[in-house]
Amino acid sequence: MSFTLAGKSALVTGSGRGIGRAIATRLAHSGACVMINDLDEKALEDTESALRADGYPNVRHITGDLTDPAFPDKLVQGMLETLGSIDIIVNNAGYSWDNVIQKTTDEQFQAMLDIHLLAPFRILRAASGYIRETAKTEIAAGKRAMRKVVNITSIAGTDGNPGQAGYSSGKAGVIGLTRTMAKEWGRYNVNVNAVGFGLIETRLTQALTSKDASMEMHGHQIRLGVQPTMLESIKHSCPLGRLGTPDEAAGAVLFFCSPLSDYVTGEVLICGGGFHF
Ligand SMILES: NC(=O)c1ccc[n+]([C@@H]2O[C@H](COP(=O)([O-])OP(=O)(O)OC[C@H]3O[C@@H](n4cnc5c(N)ncnc54)[C@H](O)[C@@H]3O)[C@@H](O)[C@H]2O)c1
Repeated sequence: MSFTLAGKSALVTGSGRGIGRAIATRLAHSGACVMINDLDEKALEDTESALRADGYPNVRHITGDLTDPAFPDKLVQGMLETLGSIDIIVNNAGYSWDNVIQKTTDEQFQAMLDIHLLAPFRILRAASGYIRETAKTEIAAGKRAMRKVVNITSIAGTDGNPGQAGYSSGKAGVIGLTRTMAKEWGRYNVNVNAVGFGLIETRLTQALTSKDASMEMHGHQIRLGVQPTMLESIKHSCPLGRLGTPDEAAGAVLFFCSPLSDYVTGEVLICGGGFHF
């Protein structure tokens, strides 16, 4: 069964690189107008130009830090001013700041809740006025237009993972947010689901030996990546025997952004090659 997202406007956070970029690409290829966002202006410009060069001009970007309390409102407002509507929201932005619990500071733990749980909450709250009012008008006119929210979680959130108390807590929390919003927004014809990834090939899962395995966040240089021995052991225990690609990850998200999932809400789909921690 084929579908088109022509006429739909989608917001994808953290889409300068990695899985977010692949999701934005899949959505654009399916016909949606896409608002991309990231901390990293250069990465956003690269993504936007690559999509334009591929023949998808309906891509815009807004640079900014989702953990700045004022930014989610600005992002949603900016999207409405630029694209005129919001039909799809993918809360994807994230990073890991790992350590065993005795070495995890309050700031570190809070940072993981801020990006993985508080930022998605603020974005959905910022969009709620538009979503409720638009849905009420559509319903009064006898029209059913399904909108889509996809929150990105992880098998660290569903299974737990040593060294990731903060990350796992944020990723578990966003499942609670997903299930609650599915119940609050069902009456407004919004499908709210989560996709949880296993290990996908991005800078978050690169071998820790790689020289650019770090990002700067609020004055901290945070190491990103996985021990090479751990990567090998995960590949061995993964039923599909490998990590997933960003495009494969984006495929699972596209399902929840498409009409194929119009009667699915409040669910968590794990896209991890069968691997669990
Ligand atoms: N790669 C994996 O194996 C894996 C597994 C499970 C879950 N995830 C989740 O998938 C999502 C995407 O991760 P990825 O692997 O593509 O990582 P990535 O580092 O390749 O991309 C994440 C993007 O999010 C952006 N970002 C981070 N904090 C931000 C902020 N405060 N404001 C705006 N943008 C911000 C980064 O700049 C980056 O471009 C994350 O939520 C991550 O936790 C990834």
